[in-house]
Amino acid sequence: MKHIVVTGGSGFIGSAISKHLAGRGYRVSNIDLVHREMSGVSYIGCDIRNRDSLEALFPNDADGVIHMAAITSVLQSKKDPVGVFETNLSATSSLLEISRLRGVKTFHMASSNAVFGSILPLGRSSKDEIDIKFTEEMSLYPLTPYGATKAAAEMLGAAYNDSYGITFGSLRLTNVYGTDMGGKDSIVPRIMRSIINKTSIEIYGDGLQWRDYIFIDDVVDAFTLALEDGWNGPTIVGSGVSYSVLDLIAAVERATDHKVDFSHVESKGGEMRGVRVDISLAKGRGFNPRFSIEDGLSRVYHDFIERGIH
Ligand SMILES: NC(=O)c1ccc[n+]([C@@H]2O[C@H](COP(=O)([O-])OP(=O)(O)OC[C@H]3O[C@@H](n4cnc5c(N)ncnc54)[C@H](O)[C@@H]3O)[C@@H](O)[C@H]2O)c1
Repeated sequence: MKHIVVTGGSGFIGSAISKHLAGRGYRVSNIDLVHREMSGVSYIGCDIRNRDSLEALFPNDADGVIHMAAITSVLQSKKDPVGVFETNLSATSSLLEISRLRGVKTFHMASSNAVFGSILPLGRSSKDEIDIKFTEEMSLYPLTPYGATKAAAEMLGAAYNDSYGITFGSLRLTNVYGTDMGGKDSIVPRIMRSIINKTSIEIYGDGLQWRDYIFIDDVVDAFTLALEDGWNGPTIVGSGVSYSVLDLIAAVERATDHKVDFSHVESKGGEMRGVRVDISLAKGRGFNPRFSIEDGLSRVYHDFIERGIH
């Protein structure tokens, strides 16, 4: 039975992956700061920034690592760039090195479309921006410490692949939403809470910034494929369809049969204007997103109701 170490396995995406892999017959160890009880998953309490503890606690017989632990807030990364560097980059370097020394064969990390950053880096005119789709071949111009640490971690991983032969794949995720995300503060849970609490939400800027939203089960599928088929290098993982924030609100209204009350506030800066992704590489590797936006949003809404989240 293969032994997979998941870092950040108590979090939104890491817990879904851990439970899925345990159900598929893997031995799963979850390294996280926060304890979470999950059937078939062993918990290892560890701060991955602490190299000595990580070395002492990291299992000796791991076959693969799925690295999800990170500071995930882009705005938080602007407030504390050094903190995000320590968690997202320095700790990734420790994990790669420990993996190398322990003979781990595969290492897959959650990267982000934030590595792309500006879509107009090379003097392209803004009328072109709407048509540009991110591909794995494009150069990276991250706008925030969060995006920069993810890009730098990808570079380190590439070097470990080439120098030491460890399979290293980064999955550049778009905006992930799904069931069991009540603890998150991203746009989809904020909209759901506003419906349930009958409050208004704030939209940054004009609400026309477009994003690609991918349902959690599709992300779990992608990581499972990456692990089992040994994906190497960067792969963009998204739904392949983008919506503006105003379109997303309209989709929530259709999916839940509730009106969403919102107001516009000034943009916080550092936000990418648009994210449109080309998922041909992932599709060529067997990935096929299964959830439409309405289906996914309806599942999230009912999950919030069933769990009594508000
Ligand atoms: N959610 C998204 O939309 C999205 C999009 C792109 C990329 N990602 C990436 O996917 C990964 C998982 O995101 P998520 O939404 O599940 O985040 P999350 O915040 O729900 O989970 C992160 C987990 O990492 C743990 N963690 C943080 N710092 C740690 C440390 N120093 N030591 C040990 N554990 C630590 C946290 O306790 C938490 O359980 C992250 O790497 C994130 O950057 C997420």
